Amino acid sequence: MDKKFKRTLVTSALPYANGPVHIGHLAGVYVPADIYVRYLRMRGEDVLYVCGSDEHGVPITIKARQQGCTPQDIVDKYHKIIKDSFSGLGINFDIYGRTSSKVHEKNASEFFRKLYDEGKFITRESEQYYDPEAKTFLADRYIVGTCPKCGAEGAYGDQCEKCGSTLSPEELINPKSKLSGAEPVKKKTSHWYLPLDQYEKWLSVWILEDHKEWRSNVYGQCKSWIDGGLQPRAVSRDLDWGVPVPVEGAEGKVLYVWFDAPIGYISNTQELLPESWDKWWKSGDTKLVHFIGKDNIVFHCIVFPSMLKAYGDGYILPDNVPANEFLNLEGDKISTSRNWAVWAHEFLTEFPGKQDVMRYVLTANAPETKDNDFSWKDFQARNNSELVAIFGNFVNRAVVLTHKYFGGKVPACGNLLDIDRETLAEIPALRASLERNIEGYHFREALKDAMSIARVGNKYISDTEPWKVAKTDLEHTGTILNVCLQICADLAIAFEPFTPFAAEKLRNMLGVGINAGVDHRKGEQETVNTYRPGEGAALHTVSSADCLPSCGVCLDWSRLGDTDLLPAGHQLNQPELLFAKIEDEAINAQLARLDAIRAEREAAAKAEAAKVVAPQKAECTFEDFEKMDIRTATVLEAERVPKTDKLLKLTIDTGIDKRTIVSGIAEFYSPEDMVGKQICILANLAPRKIRGIESKGMILMARQGDGKMRFITPAEVLLNGAEIG
Ligand code: MF3
Ligand code: ZN
Repeated sequence: MDKKFKRTLVTSALPYANGPVHIGHLAGVYVPADIYVRYLRMRGEDVLYVCGSDEHGVPITIKARQQGCTPQDIVDKYHKIIKDSFSGLGINFDIYGRTSSKVHEKNASEFFRKLYDEGKFITRESEQYYDPEAKTFLADRYIVGTCPKCGAEGAYGDQCEKCGSTLSPEELINPKSKLSGAEPVKKKTSHWYLPLDQYEKWLSVWILEDHKEWRSNVYGQCKSWIDGGLQPRAVSRDLDWGVPVPVEGAEGKVLYVWFDAPIGYISNTQELLPESWDKWWKSGDTKLVHFIGKDNIVFHCIVFPSMLKAYGDGYILPDNVPANEFLNLEGDKISTSRNWAVWAHEFLTEFPGKQDVMRYVLTANAPETKDNDFSWKDFQARNNSELVAIFGNFVNRAVVLTHKYFGGKVPACGNLLDIDRETLAEIPALRASLERNIEGYHFREALKDAMSIARVGNKYISDTEPWKVAKTDLEHTGTILNVCLQICADLAIAFEPFTPFAAEKLRNMLGVGINAGVDHRKGEQETVNTYRPGEGAALHTVSSADCLPSCGVCLDWSRLGDTDLLPAGHQLNQPELLFAKIEDEAINAQLARLDAIRAEREAAAKAEAAKVVAPQKAECTFEDFEKMDIRTATVLEAERVPKTDKLLKLTIDTGIDKRTIVSGIAEFYSPEDMVGKQICILANLAPRKIRGIESKGMILMARQGDGKMRFITPAEVLLNGAEIG
């Protein structure tokens, strides 16, 4: 770590407790942050990983209204689901708090009050949208309308989900209240604003000059906000759910959720470490890193830093804000409202024991520089042909052969040949690259480095064929397996940040523990994580004095790449498979679920489109109409026009003659459907050649908004040639 810093405080965005988390959240924020934190802990860095539920704001009150319960019911329900999902996926926060906690309410309230007392806010009276039926102001997402930027329907008062633009309610075209559907009216109200314009110069130096190393998506968004000129931002709302504004005469007003939520990072730290929290937030030698998704950039890079700057009192600012782009699902944007998502809690029950596969796939496909796609086929392929076929296969061969030839004891390392030496020499270079990549927030690349260690091992064991060497030279077989087992131990270290469950399983097989770093989860008491061999899979939290396991070997990140991680004679445990193949059935079930959702959505969209009635055409006169000779006729023969999808060639009896009409109705009717049917035709339409066939006249069809067409037939069969008009 940078010499400047003594400790690292990592936060990941507080998820709204208005629904469960999905793979987009995991890939964007929580998995990369967890990798980073596990890595730092293993390197012996002092690191604290803070998160919690964001339990205020309009999304929660809207959900409560939809479900007919209180906002508190909603946040209680989802807080638990989200918390359990994270722990199920091995996302090891030191604390997962909530912004509805007492500590937070007090903290956020005091934060506001100090800025208020010091005159850091301005107050403004403005006209805001008010729902005359529901008799309430309509903040943010309570207003929906057409997006002024992209024209999408259903854009919110604070954001368009279609194009991602940040909006204000006034910008929406055709605004409607989400509560009553009523057209909102403007009503006077007054709010407190943080005058961001006063921080613009300072932000411009701090970000645009001093943090050129930030990811280009983050830097670019900040630059465009700053270049566009910053405006004062309201920090309060007319709402009844949130932290009350702690000022006389502010009844019915609460802190804006984006004011209180980031303070939640601080509150949650206080809750965990009531005595020493300020060491994490107010020492210049703490490195603060915010992991977020791209829609949170402005709040974490511009608004929250300005709040901290305004507050002063030694608060540090983030050293980096690695924000990811978005993850799509099977080519479509993930959407909570359309249920187009893979939900973490459902995944955990449908794919028990596959947490690492998800962590692996989400990291390998992480949307670090651009939006990326998750597909179930890719999920299966990465499991079967990477985790199973390379990582798992290598470890399995090494451990099984050691049991076969050496009773499960690590054989001695004898004379090394060139290939053995060259193989071992590859590991330190991969380790260096892995470290550089994690420290630079390039987790996809870091995972490739870890995987390369497995590839090196897998290639080595295939090239050296110890099972063949064993027939003639058992001593050299031992040397080969010794090299393989050292690489297995490397993998047990290198994969701990990425696939902690598999790493633990591997260490159990190898009969080793690991120093996984200092753990703050118990609060002020200093503890250390170690995994001890032979004591099951549980994580043991012990006091730091007691860190080294008394039994067996303890791995340590600092020894990754050493050639003597496992001493000769060390006893291995029985082999077990690290990863199991994922069969087509499991994948097909997921695809079928998504197909059903897609079909339902398409049907709904079609039904909507069908309702659209084309506007009336320009007026015509009776004479205009009279020119048209419309008659009844009967279809005698029908056939498809070769090499077309749309055309039928019909022979019809018009009462006047028998003639041919070529009609574009093959999408809706087969030839058999048409034969014998009485229809109506425009008889005197000028003849046209269609595909070389002379067509005389036109069949009358009714077409609805979705394009569906039906021919017109008299209410009862008439003679052919009857005039219509
Ligand atoms: N709840 C917000 C979201 O899901 C994130 C809040 S991050 C915090 O987009 F900094 F405000 F806590
Ligand atoms: Zn838009």
